[in-house]
Amino acid sequence: MKHKRIVRTICSLLLVGLVVWVWSRWNVWFGNPTESSYISSPIPSRILLTFSDSIGENRNVSWQCDSVLLPSHLEFQDMEGTIIQSIPAKGEICESPGGKSAFYVARLRGLQPGHQYRYRVCTHERYSEWYQFTIHPHRNATEFLFVGDIQDTIAGIANQLLKQAFMRHPHMEFLVCGGDLIERPLDCYWDEMFKTLDSIAQVMPILTVTGNHDYWKGVICQLDPRFWLVNSFYQDSRVGDNQLFSFEYDNIQFFCLDSNREFWYLWQQREWLKHQLEASDAKWKILVLHHPLYSIKGSMNNLIQRWMFDDLVQEYGVDLVLQGHEHAYARMRMDGKTTPVYTVSHCSPKNYRIEFDDRFDRFGSGSRYYQKVRTHNDTLFLTAYDATSGMLYDSLQIQKKGHQTIVVDLAQSIPEIITFIPDVNNRKDRQFAERIQTYKDRKGIK
Ligand SMILES: [Fe+2]
Repeated sequence: MKHKRIVRTICSLLLVGLVVWVWSRWNVWFGNPTESSYISSPIPSRILLTFSDSIGENRNVSWQCDSVLLPSHLEFQDMEGTIIQSIPAKGEICESPGGKSAFYVARLRGLQPGHQYRYRVCTHERYSEWYQFTIHPHRNATEFLFVGDIQDTIAGIANQLLKQAFMRHPHMEFLVCGGDLIERPLDCYWDEMFKTLDSIAQVMPILTVTGNHDYWKGVICQLDPRFWLVNSFYQDSRVGDNQLFSFEYDNIQFFCLDSNREFWYLWQQREWLKHQLEASDAKWKILVLHHPLYSIKGSMNNLIQRWMFDDLVQEYGVDLVLQGHEHAYARMRMDGKTTPVYTVSHCSPKNYRIEFDDRFDRFGSGSRYYQKVRTHNDTLFLTAYDATSGMLYDSLQIQKKGHQTIVVDLAQSIPEIITFIPDVNNRKDRQFAERIQTYKDRKGIK
């Protein structure tokens, strides 16, 4: 009798604990902010150039205009010719809690490597300005920038940081983003994202994967439709309800996953990734996903994503894994010496308290970062930069010699910088400060 009473008391306490825990986490798991009412601009705006399908030269252009569907098209011209071609645009209305907007996409085909083009978009005889872009020639050499989460605050400085990055590296061919370009799926943050990408997204393809902040929270999370209306290649490439995309650019094949989903969807993505990797004969294979397969926030984080994808990444020779979500910089070589090379990066004003897993080669915290990836024949150069100062923060090379792949760490003399000002009244801050000190002692960092 007494034994039963003890068991009942323990069960009751556990149940109360569970209820309190769910209650305290309710907003984190299920809370969505209210979207203020908005009116979509009557002039074509929020224009974004991106990739299109598996063919690296094809492009899509998306834009937003008004709140009803109107005749729309894109005009473009090869800079070497005089003929202006017109492409009809496909429109779709998106209604969100704060308002309604019409989105359009025009698909450009038959573009030629080595040619420059200019284009403008038009809805109901209202034109955008002209923009110019280049289809780079095939030369077994590619250069692009990667940024992890941006999630800028309203009127943030991300646009300034990105523009400075492209001024420092003027030969970049496109920008890859690791998800969470927006803080929440609200019109004001979509507006902020376009301010972040202003003068970049119109002239250089943007390739992004989904982040958890692109989703409306719930028992089953729902992707904000504006994500795929803007990042229009997903309209043709998605598999079921999974935002997946793969394409070959020069000698690189990219594989973009949607790591934010529930188990069943990740399983479908695994099947897709396996098929894509099996069929790929690209020299360089780069995986882009939001959740790091090796978390830097805790050893139990993102285990489902790792179980689903990491064995394929290793078995099929993925060279580089570009990831975001955990708001710090980190880089890891498999077994400390070879590929895949896993990186985590962010360019957000928010920095998270990380763990210092000793499988990683180096970390960075307290700043914002971007990475440059350059391939040239048999070598891939990966460099990371502090986005605020522009200083080199990481450097390595992946070299392919026959069947051998060698990773050369060139960052031995680049100091690791981990800055954090703890709130002494915050227990988690104090613990993070201790972890930093332990890590610095272990690595001999001053
Ligand atoms: Fe995230």
